[in-house]
Amino acid sequence: AAPKGEPGVYDVLKAASEYYRQQLKTAPAAINYLKGRGLEGRTAARFGLGYAPGSSGHGLKKVFEDYDWNKLLTEAGLVGEDEESHRRYDRFRDRVIFPILNQRGSVIGFGGRIIGDGKPKYLNSPETPVFQKGNELYGLSQARTAIRDNGRVLVVEGYMDVVMLAQHGVEYAVATLGTACTPVHVQKLLKLADEVVFCFDGDKAGRKAAWRALENSLEYLVDGKRLAFLFLPEEHDPDSYVQQFGRERFEQVLTQDAVPLAQFLLRELAAQVELESEEGRARLVHLAKPLMSKVTAPAYGLMIRKRLAELCRLELSELDPILSGRN
Ligand code: CTP
Ligand code: MN
Ligand code: MN
Ligand code: MN
Ligand code: MN
Repeated sequence: AAPKGEPGVYDVLKAASEYYRQQLKTAPAAINYLKGRGLEGRTAARFGLGYAPGSSGHGLKKVFEDYDWNKLLTEAGLVGEDEESHRRYDRFRDRVIFPILNQRGSVIGFGGRIIGDGKPKYLNSPETPVFQKGNELYGLSQARTAIRDNGRVLVVEGYMDVVMLAQHGVEYAVATLGTACTPVHVQKLLKLADEVVFCFDGDKAGRKAAWRALENSLEYLVDGKRLAFLFLPEEHDPDSYVQQFGRERFEQVLTQDAVPLAQFLLRELAAQVELESEEGRARLVHLAKPLMSKVTAPAYGLMIRKRLAELCRLELSELDPILSGRN
């Protein structure tokens, strides 16, 4: 029902989320799809999953018309308009819906997954006044308590990763929404816990995303906080991994195999050069320089530089002026 008083964009988003949730109850194809992926009803409820009907159904546009919410539906990114015909259409059609909440628990946007194969696999809300992808972490509202209790936050790529980890008892995961982990994300994450572990997909895109997360983290490193990266086997993402191996094994590799940021940084750079030659080691310094210049954490920065000096077969006192020099 329409809220009392002047409704705003948050109201329409909340009502839409409720509408999608109701629709899922009478959508056997969507329910079977989720069941087929191993999702349990209570997990779907915990994350408020829903279903957006296909174009043959009424859709939000129609259902909410009575409330005179047309402008709000557009503002909320739920209804778009065709540039030529000016026809309005529901953005999400025949998709499983993942509501995205802000820290306070208000719905700010949605992700919609196609049922089965097809493109685009995921459709997300556009940027709106209340939804900026680069600032938000999917699942944070649900993960908050577990993050505090565990002193750890796990950062994954996707909706299903967060949801399936939670179903298996790993409740401290959040996802960047298909974007790189931004500086805003990193700052938020470091405020949430003393330990931040990135666990992206084991594929090439995931490894690239890990490197981007590292680059965006260097500036915000703080002595006393731990940032680490867990690399899954090539064919896995956290969803598939936890389903195949279970929580215990997942948390075991998380503890044992996550690579500290410093190690990941030096390993990646070292892999790009020939450490046996003077040119290679000089190139290593050259590659490290712009990255090291971002690090302000005094103790951690010093330790990375010491390791780097060893790799380059230099004294720290020889390396430091080069790193801080202007050329
Ligand atoms: N994503 C997106 N748009 C796409 C593909 C991906 O926004 N076309 C985002 C989604 O948030 C998705 C995440 O990037 O969850 C990770 O992408 P991918 O690994 O391809 O998806 P999965 O979450 O593994 O999807 P699924 O398991 O449902 O196939
Ligand atoms: Mn992927
Ligand atoms: Mn994935
Ligand atoms: Mn997946
Ligand atoms: Mn299982």
